[in-house]
Amino acid sequence: PNSVCRDDQGRLQVAGLDVVTIAREFGTAAYVVDEDDFRARARAFRDDFAGAFDTVCGGADVYYAGKAFLCTAVAKWVAEEGLSLDVCSGGELAVARRAGFPAERIGFHGNNKSLDEIRAALDYGVGRIVLDSFVEIDRVAEIAADLGVVAPVMIRVTVGVEAHTHEFIATGHEDQKFGFSLSGGQALEAAKAVLARDSLDLRGLHSHIGSQIFDTGGFEMSARRLVGLHAQIANELGHHSPEIDLGGGFGMAYTSQHTPLSPALLGEQLADIVGREFKAIGDGDLAEVPRVSIEPGRAIVGPSTFTLYEVGTVKQVALGDNHSRAYVSVDGGMSDNVRPALYEADYSCTLANRDSEAAPMLARVVGKHCESGDIVVQDEWLPADTAPGDLIAVPGTGAYCRALSSQYNHTPRPPVLAVRDGKARVIVRRETIDDLLALDVGVS
Ligand code: LLP
Repeated sequence: PNSVCRDDQGRLQVAGLDVVTIAREFGTAAYVVDEDDFRARARAFRDDFAGAFDTVCGGADVYYAGKAFLCTAVAKWVAEEGLSLDVCSGGELAVARRAGFPAERIGFHGNNKSLDEIRAALDYGVGRIVLDSFVEIDRVAEIAADLGVVAPVMIRVTVGVEAHTHEFIATGHEDQKFGFSLSGGQALEAAKAVLARDSLDLRGLHSHIGSQIFDTGGFEMSARRLVGLHAQIANELGHHSPEIDLGGGFGMAYTSQHTPLSPALLGEQLADIVGREFKAIGDGDLAEVPRVSIEPGRAIVGPSTFTLYEVGTVKQVALGDNHSRAYVSVDGGMSDNVRPALYEADYSCTLANRDSEAAPMLARVVGKHCESGDIVVQDEWLPADTAPGDLIAVPGTGAYCRALSSQYNHTPRPPVLAVRDGKARVIVRRETIDDLLALDVGVS
């Protein structure tokens, strides 16, 4: 985050609080969130990104994707900063509810929402449910009719564009579980089915093309296809949807290799794309651009957080040719960040509790779990005097780390600490072995 720097004793500090104090008070491993950084990123999407759409369609809505990381404090920050919230399970919806998140600003996703989840969403009055299958169209319509409400819905469209970081592939990616396919005409059929139901209100079309994307080319392709379908629905079914959603997936910098677009630039490019695509389809009503929304998760929460670990052991392993690698073991690992093991994700790290004049050594930071793939940072230069008791900070762990965490090897999960104005507070407490044992009811 922006507010991370070193104090005069070489200790890393965040929002005016040093990590040695944090570790002493709360223990390690811990996720440390810079609250102001999170809020500033959320605001940048709300103001700079959304502002770019003012002249195109009267503005844009930003749904924070809770799947990247959600707890009640974060839901409150999102609400206070004026964003909307994307949830994709009954659990995430329950968090939003407990935080008192305004129902009309919630979007509900999922390719297999249970009856209870649909009922809970309608009961809370969410602003939109994103429909993913014909089975679900019937289900939501019936439950809404039962409850005597009209459900605001969007149709998730499989646009046939899949984006991976630097590339996007525009053909043949319809073979996946999400959405109604465009090429087979299913998406149009879905619109027809929704429009035929009195208990459903078709708000618009939705697409999501991937995650950790840096190039707007994939969004351009997907917007073109969505706009084409929007026009077809208007022309053939006489329905003008008021919203269009381009999904999430905006990349963040994990290492110096990545340069993400700022929310302002991203807004400018997407507004330009959407404006152009609507101009291309016709005049009058048809060219009227619906309200645009997006669903960034990683780009908001990812950079706001670092994980603080304590070094337990350091071991030199010979690599031949007089080279060696230091294996630096920390008190966490794949249970609190599975992304290196799951996606070969790259992270960096730094010695956090002091400066060092020692020469750099090639290090691999590893966790405490019983797998050799339990790697936190694959390759990093750390000072050669890095020793047990030192603190290591791994930046950029706000997204899909705590969210994907496990209790592998019966390891209690670390707390999430929010730091602001020189003070830290626990927003998700540390799990204990007693928490884990409480679930185990086999032997009393
Ligand atoms: N909207 C929808 C419908 C999504 O499926 C996702 C992410 C998002 C928004 C938010 O995407 P973001 O802006 O955070 O990239 N576990 C993987 C990422 C999975 C993303 C799943 N869907 C990882 O750790 O890289």
